[in-house]
Amino acid sequence: MSEPAESVDLIKLPVSQLTLGMFVSAIDKSDKGQLAITNAGQIKHKDAIVRLAKNGIKFVWVDTERSAEHCGFKKKISNNIPTSKKSQLTREKQQEQAQVILTEAKDLIRKVLAETFEGKAIEVKPFETLADSMIESVFLDEDALKCMSALRSKDAYLLEHSVNVAFLLVTFGKYLKLDREMLREMAVGGILHDIGKIKVDNKVLHKPGKLTPEEFEHMKLHQVYALDIMNETTGLSQISKDICLMHHEKLDGRGYPRGLKGDEIPRHGRMSCIVDIFDALTATRCYKEAMSPAAAFKILLSLTPFHLDRELVYEFIRCIGVYPVGSLVELSDGRIGIVWASKDRDALHPIVKCFYSLKAKRYTEVTMVDLLKSELHIERGVSPSSLDIDPTPFY
Ligand SMILES: [Fe+2]
Repeated sequence: MSEPAESVDLIKLPVSQLTLGMFVSAIDKSDKGQLAITNAGQIKHKDAIVRLAKNGIKFVWVDTERSAEHCGFKKKISNNIPTSKKSQLTREKQQEQAQVILTEAKDLIRKVLAETFEGKAIEVKPFETLADSMIESVFLDEDALKCMSALRSKDAYLLEHSVNVAFLLVTFGKYLKLDREMLREMAVGGILHDIGKIKVDNKVLHKPGKLTPEEFEHMKLHQVYALDIMNETTGLSQISKDICLMHHEKLDGRGYPRGLKGDEIPRHGRMSCIVDIFDALTATRCYKEAMSPAAAFKILLSLTPFHLDRELVYEFIRCIGVYPVGSLVELSDGRIGIVWASKDRDALHPIVKCFYSLKAKRYTEVTMVDLLKSELHIERGVSPSSLDIDPTPFY
């Protein structure tokens, strides 16, 4: 793996310089193209240092922030690290931040769902603030947010789906070079896009499996309810409203609620249709397995040009990549891993965090494999539910 960004918190040290109390975040095996983080922890006994040296480890990454005070890092680090690097965050920190944003988003959606259910009007401001931090995070490093949002809980589908649709719209919009104001309005629309479902009968909303034609007609009402809610909401931009009201429209005019056709659906409306279907397909529900992104792309393409905009679907595939960060892949040596980082590299050579061997049918030592530096390649994308393993602890 490429070395972790040397930041205020993380420095690379020779094993010979390790002392008791230092917190080791990662073991560097860069000579073998690996960075193992299984042994993260504080050095409490000299034996641990001896063991590292015996195993041929020459360097480790030490978290200066978490190391014991007597290790004397802080002064030394703040003097030595160039200012430009101080703003860099470790991946761990970025993921923590991403987690905070996603939790905040879910709390906010939970709250607005409850309030809408009670007939209260929606207050737009908190959603704009949330959209801003989401955009910040995507611009800083979308990998962290992608990994976190790949972790869905099955029981809170509407929350996860709303957050993911907003996040995917920002990611897609950024890729298409849309301006920030537009991204913010799209994110707000994404967060609220299924708000009308709050008035759908719970039996229909939570029904496992296919809906009957009558139930489907009832489900479609969520867009009629959404229209009422949108009309009662002050301060919502037209773009946000469009995202909310157009994500079930189809280019051939056979969608709902208004049966808009072709040019009547603007680009952001078409984007919302693509993103909504993609997220639904790649989600795990109690009654269906999650689809790998590659399989979902095939379905999206099969829905063009009558339902979805073909050019935009191709753009979306280019934006997300066949092996998006957070998805599971099988490497050519039979190991399974999470696509961990893709920033500044081509789509076929991400960094993969391996944790399971298909051949041995067991969990393995967690290893970061940098496909730019390795002989290995990605064999295929896999969906978590097609394997009998739980990748959750490795995110
Ligand atoms: Fe919907």
